[in-house]
Amino acid sequence: MQPGLFISFEGIDGAGKSTHISALAQAFKAQGRAVTLTREPGGTPLAEKLRSLVLQDAMDPLTEALLMFAARRDHLDCVILPALARGDVVLCDRFTDATFAYQGGGRGFDEEVLSQLERMVQTSPDQAALVQPALTLWFDLAPQEAAKRLAGVRVPDKFESQPLAFFQRVAQGYARRQRKDPERFARIDAAQTQSSVWDAVLAVCVAKGWLA
Ligand code: TMP
Repeated sequence: MQPGLFISFEGIDGAGKSTHISALAQAFKAQGRAVTLTREPGGTPLAEKLRSLVLQDAMDPLTEALLMFAARRDHLDCVILPALARGDVVLCDRFTDATFAYQGGGRGFDEEVLSQLERMVQTSPDQAALVQPALTLWFDLAPQEAAKRLAGVRVPDKFESQPLAFFQRVAQGYARRQRKDPERFARIDAAQTQSSVWDAVLAVCVAKGWLA
């Protein structure tokens, strides 16, 4: 059995990661790997309930951060860790970097507190190290461009309806996370055409030796 592989996908709303997540799932399946495709906040019945609360209801930044981590804990326990133990490739649409970018960068919430929550939620008694993705594909797009892509696509949720300045802070939050952990992050220039973005995603996975 091959060991499990955990990959997360990040970027501001409108950066265009969704298409590539499904395509990458197909690419891994075509090579015989079992794939667990999931998302945050969400991925379990409880975490999906927390998702609708946190995406729709107004709340203070600490409540918002706690709900993100509560959803994450349930998701890790019920879906991500069991899938990795089975040897699956886990493709997760957003993970903790989103909390640092949105709650830390966007809302201006204390990143030291977020780091404490990260340690609390992502360390389990039988796991010596912090559970983190082996790779984070960061779809980087200028907030002005992302706003153009999002305009009129669907009814915006609480985050999507934030002003441009919020997304500029979110983008800076992602850049800070990348600087802290450059080995884990692969920055994808999401301003390219969809097919060039896909080539870049594939190239990262081929370079890691995960796809032929
Ligand atoms: P999605 O639309 O990409 O599924 O993401 C849901 C929204 O939730 C998106 O606007 C980003 C936001 N979010 C946070 O604010 N903090 C988090 O920790 C996560 C995972 C998502």
